[in-house]
Amino acid sequence: MTTQEVIKLFDKYVIANYNRLPKVIARGQGCYIYDADGNKILDMFPGWAVSGIGHCHPKIVKAIQKQAEILLHMDNTFYTELQGRLAKLLAERAFGGKSFFCNSGAEAIEAALKLARIHTAKGKYKFITAFGSFHGRTFAAMTATAQPKKHAGFEPMLPGFVYVPFNDVDALQKAFTDDVAAVMIEPIQGEGGINLATQEYMAAIRQLCDKNHALMILDEVQTGIGRTGKWFAYQHYNVEPDIITMAKALGGGVAIGAMMAKPDIAASFVPGTHASTFGGNCIACAAAIAVIEAIEEENLLENAAKIGQYTADKLNQLKNKHSIIDHVRGKGLMLGIQLKKPGAEIVSKCLDAGLRINCTQETVLRFMPPMNVTAGQIDDAIKILDIVMTKTGA
Ligand SMILES: Cc1ncc(COP(=O)(O)O)c(C=O)c1O
Repeated sequence: MTTQEVIKLFDKYVIANYNRLPKVIARGQGCYIYDADGNKILDMFPGWAVSGIGHCHPKIVKAIQKQAEILLHMDNTFYTELQGRLAKLLAERAFGGKSFFCNSGAEAIEAALKLARIHTAKGKYKFITAFGSFHGRTFAAMTATAQPKKHAGFEPMLPGFVYVPFNDVDALQKAFTDDVAAVMIEPIQGEGGINLATQEYMAAIRQLCDKNHALMILDEVQTGIGRTGKWFAYQHYNVEPDIITMAKALGGGVAIGAMMAKPDIAASFVPGTHASTFGGNCIACAAAIAVIEAIEEENLLENAAKIGQYTADKLNQLKNKHSIIDHVRGKGLMLGIQLKKPGAEIVSKCLDAGLRINCTQETVLRFMPPMNVTAGQIDDAIKILDIVMTKTGA
C-alpha cells in the first residue's frame, strides 16, 4: 500500500486521537526506522521510550521467536517459570520488591494506587501528586496527572487527589494531612518537560511518608530500565521508595508493565483484590528477560551514562550557537532542550531531514535515544539539528 492509501484507511477506520506525522513506518532496526517510501530516519525517540535498546534488538527477537513456539500465553490460574524469573531479575535490581505484572504504564499506576489504598490504615485515601506530572490516561492515572489540560472535558476527576508544585518541600509538608495514603511522583518528569526531582525533595517525601505512615510511590515508567544510567532513576538518590511502576522499555517493544512493592506492602494484595488477564504474558516476560540480559551483556547502563554525558555536552555546544536554546537538562539518555520558543517546526523539519526527535510542553525538545546509541549516531543527530536550527533562524 502507498503512504496515502494507509492514511486513508486510518481516516476511515482508526479513531483520530493522536496527532500523527504523515509517514508510514514500515520497519525498524537499532537506532533507525524506515518509512514505506524507503527513507531511513535516525530515531532519537524510539517508541516514546519503549524501544530502549533499539528497534528489533536481535536478542529480544530471538527470545520472542523461541517462546512463540512453546507457549504464547498462560493465564494466572497457573504458575509459569518466565513470570517468576522476570520478577526475580527485577527484585535483584530494585530493593528486593515483589512484582505484579500488567500491560502498560497506566495499569501499573492503577495497581500502585490500589495497593496503597488497601495497604494503608482505614481513613487514609488521599494521593498527593505533583503539577506537571504525567501518569497515564486511564481515570485514576489521568486524575493523578496534575495537568488541567489533560483533564479538560473529562471532569469530574476522581476524588482523593491533591496536587502540589514539584520540588516544593514546604507545599508538600502543608498538603500532608492524616488521610494521605501515598505520595506519587516521577523522579524525572518526562512528558512534563524533563524536570528532575532534587535530592532534598526526594528525601523530604521519604521522611514525610515515614512520619505519616504513608507510602512513597515512584513512577519509573519513563525513567526505568536503565535509561538514566542506573536501572531505576531513584538509585541516583539516597532514597528508597515503597512502590515503583515501570512499563515502556521493560518489554523492549512488547507490551508489559509492572508494579513492584516492598514485600510487606505487596502482601496486602491477596486473591480477589487485583488482576490482569494478560499480566505476566509469556511472550512479554520472555522479551523483558531478554531486555534485562542484553542491558547487562552489552554494558548498556554504563553506555547510557557515558553517551548521555556526551550528548548533553554536544547539545550544550549547540546552545552556544543557537539563541533559541535556553538550556539543556536531564540525566543519562533522558535529555531535554529547553527552547525559548515553540519547537514543533524544528521537530517537523528534523523529520524531513531524516531525524526523529520529540517536543513536549511546546518548548522542550526530548532526546531519548536507545541505550546502545553510538557517539557517531549522536553526532549525526546533532548535525541535522544544527542545520535545521540554522535554516529556521533559531
Ligand atoms: C511517567 C509515565 N507514567 C505513566 C505513563 C503511562 O504509560 P502508558 O501509556 O503505557 O499507559 C507514561 C506514558 O508516557 C509515563 O511517561
